Amino acid sequence: MKPTTAPRTYRVKSFGCQMNVYDGERMAEMLGERGITPAPEGEEADLVVLNTCHIRERAAEKVYSDIGRLVKAGAKAGKTPLIAVAGCVAQAEGDEIMARAPAVSMVVGPQAYHRLPDMIDRAVQGERNTDTDMPAIAKFAALPERRKSAPAAFLTVQEGCDKFCTYCVVPYTRGAEISRPYADLTLEARKLVDAGAREITLLGQNVSAWSGEDERGHAVGLAGLIRALAEVDGLARIRYTTSHPADMDDALIAAHGEIDKLMPYLHLPVQSGSDRVLKAMNRSHTADSYLRLLERFRAARPDLALSGDFIVGFPGETEAEFAETLALVDAVGYAQAYSFKYSPRPGTPAATMADQVAMEVMDERLQRLQAAINRDQHAFNRATQGRDCEVLVERKGKLAGQWLGKSPWLQSVWFEGDCAIGDLVEVHLAEAGPNSLRGVIRENVAA
Ligand code: SAH
Ligand code: SF4
Ligand code: F3S
Repeated sequence: MKPTTAPRTYRVKSFGCQMNVYDGERMAEMLGERGITPAPEGEEADLVVLNTCHIRERAAEKVYSDIGRLVKAGAKAGKTPLIAVAGCVAQAEGDEIMARAPAVSMVVGPQAYHRLPDMIDRAVQGERNTDTDMPAIAKFAALPERRKSAPAAFLTVQEGCDKFCTYCVVPYTRGAEISRPYADLTLEARKLVDAGAREITLLGQNVSAWSGEDERGHAVGLAGLIRALAEVDGLARIRYTTSHPADMDDALIAAHGEIDKLMPYLHLPVQSGSDRVLKAMNRSHTADSYLRLLERFRAARPDLALSGDFIVGFPGETEAEFAETLALVDAVGYAQAYSFKYSPRPGTPAATMADQVAMEVMDERLQRLQAAINRDQHAFNRATQGRDCEVLVERKGKLAGQWLGKSPWLQSVWFEGDCAIGDLVEVHLAEAGPNSLRGVIRENVAA
């Protein structure tokens, strides 16, 4: 590649899960430290970071079409952007990207992005470079301090996954489970609050597997970390995601009943309602053990809103097995849930299993599942109609004077009134729609 001038503007595009969103923010902060500024709206950036997701086939293919689009748009604007591919596709297919996409000058994995500034220097010299090392915890220590935050912030506390569900790429793209140290996390949380955060969502591929030592050297799990963060002045709300049913301990269940700042919402993926399928997926729970676990959470916090993830059309899934998934949905009554068609991922055991399910069958099952989930989501919203609750104001609505925020149960609530982004306002939930609620502001409780 030809040497080029140092980039002055950047754009980071994050795809996939919230951990990628967090990583994208941290990369942007690093670029900011270097004096590189966000490209103005509508302008091509000198440096583009595509922070990619490898979880399903469609997500991974997007990378190549995005690169093509960037090159074209750059040519139109009379420039050749520096392109960095980061995230899970970079980790899984770094060499392939370098071979297939000559416009890409940097490939950087999710555990190596703290080295992005050096990589940019080399790319400016005309050297294409790849870094997909997994130096575990080193990354976080090398990142700049948090200086700016939205009212609802993310904080990655745990990374990687040792569960090896047979369909999933995450253990390969993100590596083994590691927990960030307690002291680093309480410090980062305080910085985020100083920088404007009122709510923090603790992130991890298996966040409930987080473990550490508190300031007295006592072993603590996620519940202990949540307790410590609940002491942070100015922090009003705590959430965590995503959990695995195998790592939910008594302390975490109890925390839901005891810690006011811990919001009444639990995202607990189940994937299927069929024990045969769950076993083939290498999930270490059954439909029944999952339901019993949820009962214990609900006993601790009766108004808990539940969310989950589902895969339809896992290899060999029969109509009767799919019906067990629908039955599980009926039994739980989710406030919200995500569902996906099974996507065979290269290198995973399920990709080579017999009896791959036909696309039309998957389409049809997904539709039925989503209809059931939507029905329950609307029912949940209706059940909260008439209540008053606190809403964290996150942004302006579409119309003048309108605000959008989240209820404790993570519902989107819109309302009109006198408040500002970052306020916690007391809102009457007046009217429930399938995807959001209309509220009426009662008072600004914590401006
Ligand atoms: N660590 C989290 C999130 C994993 S990815 C967890 O275990 O819950 C988020 C969701 O993507 C998964 O819960 C699963 O429902 C879905 N998913 C993962 N691999 C998939 C695949 N190969 N095909 C379709 N959906 C998949
Ligand atoms: Fe993937 Fe399973 Fe790990 Fe979740 S628990 S990241 S689905 S392997
Ligand atoms: Fe995607 Fe990687 Fe997250 S594959 S879902 S970005 S961990």
